[in-house]
Amino acid sequence: MLSLPEFGSEQIPQPKNRLYCGYLKASNERNGIMYSATAIKKMQEQTEALRKQLTDGPLASLQLTPLREALRFHEHQYYIRNSPLISDFEYDQLYKELERMEALHPELISPDSPTQRVAPGLGNDFKKVRHLVPMLSLENSYNANDLIEWDRKVKELANKSQIEYCVEPKFDGAGISVIYENDLLTRGATRGDGAEGEDITTNIKQIHSIPLSANFKRYGIRQIEIRGEVLMTKKSFKAFNEKLLEENLPPLANPRNAASGTLRIKDPKIVAQRNLEAFLYHIGYWVHDSNDTTLTDIQTHSDALHMLWELGFRSPEQEKKVFLTIDDVIAFCTAYELQRDELPYEIDGMVIKVNDLTLQEQLGMTSHHPRWAIAYKFKARQASSRLRSVEFQVGRTGAVTPVAKIDPAPIGGVTVTSISLHNEDFIREKDLRIGDAVLVERAGDVIPYIVKSFSELRNGDEQPIQFPVNCPVCHDPLTKNEAEAVWRCVNINCKAQVVERIIHFNSKDAMDIRGLGDAHVRKFFELGFLKDIPSIYHLPFDQIRKLEGYGAKSVENLQQAIETSKTQPLHRLLYALGIRFVGETTAKTIAANINHLLDLEQKTVEELQQLEDIGPKVATAVFNFFHNADNIEMLHKLEQLGLQLNNNYRHSSTQGNLNGKTFLFTGTLPTLKRSEAERLVEDNGGSILSGVSSKLNFLIVGEDAGSKLEKAKKIGTIEVLDEVSFLKLIQNNTEG
Ligand code: IVH
Repeated sequence: MLSLPEFGSEQIPQPKNRLYCGYLKASNERNGIMYSATAIKKMQEQTEALRKQLTDGPLASLQLTPLREALRFHEHQYYIRNSPLISDFEYDQLYKELERMEALHPELISPDSPTQRVAPGLGNDFKKVRHLVPMLSLENSYNANDLIEWDRKVKELANKSQIEYCVEPKFDGAGISVIYENDLLTRGATRGDGAEGEDITTNIKQIHSIPLSANFKRYGIRQIEIRGEVLMTKKSFKAFNEKLLEENLPPLANPRNAASGTLRIKDPKIVAQRNLEAFLYHIGYWVHDSNDTTLTDIQTHSDALHMLWELGFRSPEQEKKVFLTIDDVIAFCTAYELQRDELPYEIDGMVIKVNDLTLQEQLGMTSHHPRWAIAYKFKARQASSRLRSVEFQVGRTGAVTPVAKIDPAPIGGVTVTSISLHNEDFIREKDLRIGDAVLVERAGDVIPYIVKSFSELRNGDEQPIQFPVNCPVCHDPLTKNEAEAVWRCVNINCKAQVVERIIHFNSKDAMDIRGLGDAHVRKFFELGFLKDIPSIYHLPFDQIRKLEGYGAKSVENLQQAIETSKTQPLHRLLYALGIRFVGETTAKTIAANINHLLDLEQKTVEELQQLEDIGPKVATAVFNFFHNADNIEMLHKLEQLGLQLNNNYRHSSTQGNLNGKTFLFTGTLPTLKRSEAERLVEDNGGSILSGVSSKLNFLIVGEDAGSKLEKAKKIGTIEVLDEVSFLKLIQNNTEG
């Protein structure tokens, strides 16, 4: 029997251990977490039985194991397979029951119980830990020629004319290492400087795609170190930044910073709320029980990814592809770059790895990089530019935002000329001056961001940025609340605020009134057609038709868009009102708990705080809004004008038979607008994915469907429907 190496000791396992671990080619069921159809059925029955008993009263404590099994199974379906089989509410019921039973029998708590992710706060500092095998970085390549040259070198060193390569995404997150001993997760660490990282085990346990235990014993593995990347999805990042912005805090530059920052937060509860995910893609080392005779070898990197996937980890098993020529590798990398923006998470390139593990070992490493792998970096999303001037804009809440005007910087296919600097503190922290050379980043659809100024390039002509003392629009003095970083114009009738409120009301994520964008609102305001939100519904179309640049068709479209907006669901209207701190997510939460918008007149701050994720600040802002006579009068006017203040959508989402099913639309549908079609899906409990992947259940195609359709066909498990069949599906769902 092998003894386990002590952490921090010099007893570093030799690469041999890493390579020849046994690999059990057994049935899915025997491998534990990879649920077969029969196992899924069994787990569903088990869940049903548990839930049935729960409705009759609390379960008996002897049923801890099936309950844990069921919870682990549903976590796996939710976090790894992206295909939940029970609702959040049903999961919570079971989870709470487990918590209750464990509180009664603390002696029965096991370290991998689903309840054991939650942990008390950490002390002051994270302990430094040494990686048993250093975490190397990868050599970078930027174009096809670099890859061709690397392939030539690999072949020369290996003395082979053909090499098998495994290619997978280069995840743009925070590098981590996790260690499992005797099937239990025992340590999670940051990459740090590659030799030493920080012990973040408690925070790692908050990431649901990292199992607390895994059946490595089946493979004869006693100890294993796995490396991977912790990510925040674009969706979670957007919601996270929106929250920061609502509180007038500077947002973060990219999901990578959000992920690495979150991993170092001292309160695991906050880490848990941030919904981090992880891809695990490399085995640093393993120690196996050499007496085990049932084992066969893992020969390749793709075998290792497969093993991790089968054990319940999120490895790039489904994203990776194996090729025999560098030309095919290059074609795959190029194609992947084109769909980069459609992925739900950020990647900054591809990683090409020699697939054969024995060959990897032979090729070895330089002092910095393994010779058997290379990163193919996508086009940078950063550029340098010069800060020319700063303008001060007044927002709908009166907050004055400094906006940097920079020399045009082309980044990722977009030319950036304007970047928000958020507030005075941001300018001070970054020490930005007019005339500075600056580094600009724009990741995907993330708002552009000034990463830093190059102070070493200054020539002495740079000027400090002066914050105004009066509102640049109405010239009233600006005020600043002690607890806030923003300067504000408190004149509620300040023209800038009124215009911005109307623009926000019409915006895409609010009432989505197309044809009434920034420029139109400003113009109509100047002409006296618009003076407040209700005036949108009284626009004098006969006069507008006479204006230059307004054709009959565009006016008709505008009229139609305004009319359609009256039927927007309540959460959109609530968001459109522009109440401070009420972003889209908060608006959805509040709307889901009321029958009519004016119900909020009756809610106390305490009652509002009972709602999920609503703290005193949000609750007070909502309370104040609904206790202002002008606002209430405006809402009555809107209702008279035919807007929907009733909550027609309540109870519908997550209730339909589409629950857990994923959809994506491509091309132009014959009758439905994209937003309408997406709403139909969401109202029936389905969800929309941002790109084609094996997690997609239905692709709905319209005219001019392009690469998405091709990709879906290749994957083979995705059902492709046209609008008619889609509507039938919805209809069956509603009737059923
Ligand atoms: S393999 C010994 N695979 O990129 C090689 N790395 O500069 C181990 N990364 O520090 C790394 N996606 O944090 C590998 N699919 C992937 C990756 C990946 C992202 C990161 C990793 C590493 C850095 C390399």
